[in-house]
Amino acid sequence: MGNKNGKVALITGANKGIGKEIARQLGILGYTVVLTARDLNAGAKAVEELVAAGCDAHTVALEVTSAADIANLAKYLEENFGKLDILVNNAGIAIEWDGQPTNTEKVRRTLETNLIAPYAITEALEPLLSLSDDARVINHSSQLGSIDAAENMWQYISGFMTVGYATSKAGLNMLTQIQSKTLGVKGIAVAAAHPGWVKTDLGSDAAPMEVEEGASTVVSLVTIERDLFPHGQLVHKGVRIPW
Ligand SMILES: NC(=O)c1ccc[n+]([C@@H]2O[C@H](COP(=O)([O-])OP(=O)(O)OC[C@H]3O[C@@H](n4cnc5c(N)ncnc54)[C@H](OP(=O)(O)O)[C@@H]3O)[C@@H](O)[C@H]2O)c1
Repeated sequence: MGNKNGKVALITGANKGIGKEIARQLGILGYTVVLTARDLNAGAKAVEELVAAGCDAHTVALEVTSAADIANLAKYLEENFGKLDILVNNAGIAIEWDGQPTNTEKVRRTLETNLIAPYAITEALEPLLSLSDDARVINHSSQLGSIDAAENMWQYISGFMTVGYATSKAGLNMLTQIQSKTLGVKGIAVAAAHPGWVKTDLGSDAAPMEVEEGASTVVSLVTIERDLFPHGQLVHKGVRIPW
């Protein structure tokens, strides 16, 4: 196992996709990584891979829309680590790209998973984040949540613009801006990341980027010098994306 840096990073929805890769990259850098998974077997399998790669990795069950699971998560972190340095709100869904028209139920589920859950998780973990001397929250968002992109790049992105997904990420961007103020004054830095279009179950095989590259935006926000942290912004590979 590599040298631990004493910091604990929690990544939601990290049994696969970009979340697992973020956990792997942070683990190799010396962070103790806690991967959440709604299917504990899937979480355990990911942890096995990361431990084999030299990471200090752990898993805990979390259905992000479950208040009981969120309470258990806070208890688990408190009992096992006593603090939290990094929270990556990564778990997300895009259930409207199935060729069928979207509907109220899909929009509601998407908002619950992609927007309300990150709010609830951050609220529950704030006391543990407050115990870190360099606490950071990264919300995994998307350029599809950019109102500027919807207004000015419609011809390029209209095929991906669905009501639930785009408004959930636009909401997450606003949540990020608000939290960067309300948590920022308490010493907790908050920003949002757009990974790019990445090959995963969500991004599909048509995506041009591999997960290694897709994870890099979040990893750089976790590791960037505190003085350079882009509080409240939505960024992709170090560059700000307009709202
Ligand atoms: N891939 C892209 O091109 C792209 C582009 C822009 C933004 N993003 C964002 O990046 C993040 C990660 O996406 P990805 O591409 O890595 O997707 P992915 O491979 O489909 O992984 C999504 C993860 O979220 C988990 N998850 C979904 N709903 C959950 C719930 N209710 N409770 C707990 N966990 C839940 C999934 O768990 P299960 O395995 O149990 O389903 C999985 O671990 C998402 O927020 C996504 O919106 C991705």
